[in-house]
Amino acid sequence: MSAQAPIKRLSVPQIASRKGEEPLVALTAYTAPMATLVDAHADIILVGDSLGMVVHGLPSTLGVTLEMMILHGQAVMRGSHRAMVVIDMPFGSYEESPEQAFRNAARVMAETGCGAVKLEGGTRMADTIRFLVDRGIPVMAHVGLTPQSTNVMGGFKTQGRDQASWPAHLADAQAVAEAGAFSLVVEGVMEALADRITDSVPIPTIGIGASARCDGQILVLDDMLGLSGRVPRFVQKFGDLAPRADQAIAAYAAAVRDRSFPGEDQVYR
Ligand code: KIV
Repeated sequence: MSAQAPIKRLSVPQIASRKGEEPLVALTAYTAPMATLVDAHADIILVGDSLGMVVHGLPSTLGVTLEMMILHGQAVMRGSHRAMVVIDMPFGSYEESPEQAFRNAARVMAETGCGAVKLEGGTRMADTIRFLVDRGIPVMAHVGLTPQSTNVMGGFKTQGRDQASWPAHLADAQAVAEAGAFSLVVEGVMEALADRITDSVPIPTIGIGASARCDGQILVLDDMLGLSGRVPRFVQKFGDLAPRADQAIAAYAAAVRDRSFPGEDQVYR
């Protein structure tokens, strides 16, 4: 037996207890090496269905499958050991009925070992969230701009510009909290509305394009590292890696063409 106890991942109660406390650091990751980098700094690693666009070049998240989420979820679990790993339920895998949601969420949990699933939707998903939580599946909810519904919303539009819509957004947040979600992603909403949501629910809110007053923040890792092409206006870049990767690839290509690439006897000398 090892003398050192294995480091435990952050648990649902530990994340939930951060309401109004030290802000939660959350980032996406889709692969083992990136998960290892993120794990050193983040409380939550989200295997977001944004991987459809970021990794697979899809036009939206709608083509992402359960199998893709499970495969990337397994990689992220292998690459991390401390953060809570949350896996997105992809479009079409949970909306039909609480039973469908349970069947697929249970598969995600069992085949990856992740700590929780995330699903989009407010009041309309409350019964499903309650059904999952009652059966042992922790749920992170996601309200405001919900990318899986952009065809209905008419695009990626900031929510809550019209104050008349605020009661519905607040009702969404309160419904998922009452249903048992342990945390709540608030995406693409006016700052004052995001603050009202944070003040009106007992669970941590995790903002993206929302407000600095949320109980935590999340960004898509590739966007914030400067690896994605076009990114939403609210994304603050903390790195500019694409030009550096380009330089490295160009240097490699030049070395190959110049025949200045080291031979095996030089490498293993
Ligand atoms: O899919 C994703 O990466 C997300 C985050 C942007 C919150 O849902």
